[in-house]
Amino acid sequence: MQRKEFQWNEYTISYLEDGSGDTLVLIHAFPFNALMWKPQLEKLANNFYIIAPDIPSFGSSFPTPNILTMDLAANFVNALLDHLDIKKANICGLSMGGYISLAFTEFFSEKLEKLILADTHGAEDFIEKKLQRQKFINEIEKVGTGKLLEQFVSSTLGPSTKAHNLDLVCQVRKIMEMAKPETIISALRGMAERPARFNVLKKIKRPVCVIVGEDDFITPLSDAEDIVNSTPNAILKVIPNSGHLSNIENPNFFNNVIKDFILENN
Ligand code: MLT
Repeated sequence: MQRKEFQWNEYTISYLEDGSGDTLVLIHAFPFNALMWKPQLEKLANNFYIIAPDIPSFGSSFPTPNILTMDLAANFVNALLDHLDIKKANICGLSMGGYISLAFTEFFSEKLEKLILADTHGAEDFIEKKLQRQKFINEIEKVGTGKLLEQFVSSTLGPSTKAHNLDLVCQVRKIMEMAKPETIISALRGMAERPARFNVLKKIKRPVCVIVGEDDFITPLSDAEDIVNSTPNAILKVIPNSGHLSNIENPNFFNNVIKDFILENN
């Protein structure tokens, strides 16, 4: 696994890459970075050329945009593909990564091979969610991110992980703690601004795989079903013993789902 970077406008974009074969782009959740894809970079590199960007300014990418809109993030992903001269790619996004993948699909559909939407949804933020994000921003500005991250760790992971895998809980907390307060604020603002993308889902011509952890309470099964019901060619896979971070909480199951989906009828 190698870390590389490239320059796009004023942004330095850092990314992890490994493997060879068809391209698989992995787009991380909030407030994580490319390191959350370690279980995929380690195990799927025999099958695919994997690239996992740090969406600015998470991880090692910088500087922080005032508002990290999902459209801006989709443009980062497209710039990365252009930089690597990749004409078509399988795109996999988890949660916020899913919102970014849908924005990418809207603007760059000709570059999409297959789409994997994990633990995410197609709706915009309703008023309660927008207010909650503003509350988080106020709290960060007043007292920093500490208490909030603790809350995120707890709501993100499923009961099985929290009860039986304390190592994993610590790893997840460590990755979250890398996020700078200004980055978290910028992404909270960007997610609050995003539109619903069911209209994009309706028009997708390529195969789509929708994944959800069976104990995902942030984007539950009903959200995944809404995506499947709006998409012409979609399958649904439920990941057992997993909360919102299905790629980390049950990596073997998650990896097999991705491998089968991308390689079948290829
Ligand atoms: C994520 O995991 O990326 C977040 O839960 C997305 C969100 O806050 O909407």
